[in-house]
Amino acid sequence: MIKVSPSILAADPLNMERDVQRMVDAGCDLLHVDIMDAHFVPNLSYGPALAEALHSRFTIPLDVHLMMDNPESYLDTFAKAGAWGITIHAEIPGDVPAMLKHIRDLGLNVGLSVKPGTPVESIRDLLPMVDMVLIMTVEPGFGGQKFQSAMLEKIRTLRTWGYAGLIEADGGVSLANLPDLKAAGLDVAVMGTAMYKSENPARDMEIIHAM
Ligand code: DX5
Ligand code: ZN
Repeated sequence: MIKVSPSILAADPLNMERDVQRMVDAGCDLLHVDIMDAHFVPNLSYGPALAEALHSRFTIPLDVHLMMDNPESYLDTFAKAGAWGITIHAEIPGDVPAMLKHIRDLGLNVGLSVKPGTPVESIRDLLPMVDMVLIMTVEPGFGGQKFQSAMLEKIRTLRTWGYAGLIEADGGVSLANLPDLKAAGLDVAVMGTAMYKSENPARDMEIIHAM
């Protein structure tokens, strides 16, 4: 079953509680929390205070995606804020394996993400350290971009290698491209615009869960 992780980036910041409640009521499995530092990506979003507030208000697991150049000093902070899992990027400076181990030692779901230009071959050696690979299907930084179907090949490649962990796709994911993603081997669909702008997210999630 494909799990759905709606990205808070597409929620109305002035009505975050209402919009997240709508996703929870619709039956989402996780909540995708996009954190941007204006260095790794050309945009700023939210910080640990929002994750903490969401955690105190909702029981839905928080799927924290750190689009940050220097996430190491924030791993403990997001763990304390109530993250279910933390995903860092393969392209960042610093000791990525040590950070993955740090996330593991915090007892969280360990995620590693690759941008569209980064081949999965570059993370092959790290796969035994992770629970989830996040394939970016757009350039990270902004919601509402067009899905890059060439990224499907990365999912197929991971499965060809026998990688049995979770695979998540993020960026432009919708009901239209989910059948292809599912056929390639996807487990978790991050959906920003497609879910928050949907007239009937409960029906959409039902369709996705039945795929
Ligand atoms: C992009 C973020 C995504 C984004 C997805 O940098 O990581 O999570 O919010 O939004 P949509 O689904 O609108 O492409
Ligand atoms: Zn994301």
